[in-house]
Amino acid sequence: MKIIKAKDYNDMSRKAANIISAQVIMKPDCVLGLATGSTPIGTYAQLADWYQKGDLDFSNVTTVNLDEYKGLTRDNDQSYYYFMNHHLFGRVNIDLKRTFLPDGTEPDSEKACREYDQIITNVGGADLQLLGLGHNGHIGFNEPGEAFEADTHCVTLAESTVEANQRFFASKEDVPRQAYTMGIRTIMQAKKILVVVSGADKAAIVKTAFFGEITPQVPASVLQLHNDVTIVADEAALSEVER
Ligand code: GLP
Repeated sequence: MKIIKAKDYNDMSRKAANIISAQVIMKPDCVLGLATGSTPIGTYAQLADWYQKGDLDFSNVTTVNLDEYKGLTRDNDQSYYYFMNHHLFGRVNIDLKRTFLPDGTEPDSEKACREYDQIITNVGGADLQLLGLGHNGHIGFNEPGEAFEADTHCVTLAESTVEANQRFFASKEDVPRQAYTMGIRTIMQAKKILVVVSGADKAAIVKTAFFGEITPQVPASVLQLHNDVTIVADEAALSEVER
């Protein structure tokens, strides 16, 4: 595991965007695995900026996102579909037909999950998977549990995740309780993994996930077994590790 220390959030975003842009330049028809949450927003803004300056071309890139809330329509401003369009897809020259997320509007979980796995298989899996890190160690929406779930599945969100995400909704009651998420095996099959982490509130989980025991109770800990993981974290997020 390679850890790149960034000064602050902006520096983290720029460093992460550099890694993603290198991937796109080296392989213009690459498959990017993308993430939502607040952490990658600056990374996407940087990529969009470089695109607007003419330094990046997304026209042949395919994307597969980690997860989507179950039950939110695509025009709901809290859906991850909306998020991706707002922060990245609508700002670069990506072909929307090549951008994929689980279908949150599909009420049949089994169908939604199998269809999404088929899409990931069809595109050949991710060359580079971007990940954020939940406070409880979740990646995508793989919550702490008894076992690592392999494929795309429907999850009931942990109470702490509902609370953490409530800041984006009018009230806690509005936060969906279920989501579709890519499974751990699919994430681990990405050729390269890039984790972005920022802030002192993530310092404890950075230490537990990347320097502690590998256990499904801390889903991100499985990344210790991947042979090409880069963590770009700011000083605040690394503060427990250094201590
Ligand atoms: C969300 C997303 C994750 C994300 C995580 C952390 O619930 N499903 O993909 O990594 O929570 O979010 P944030 O970056 O806002 O801390």
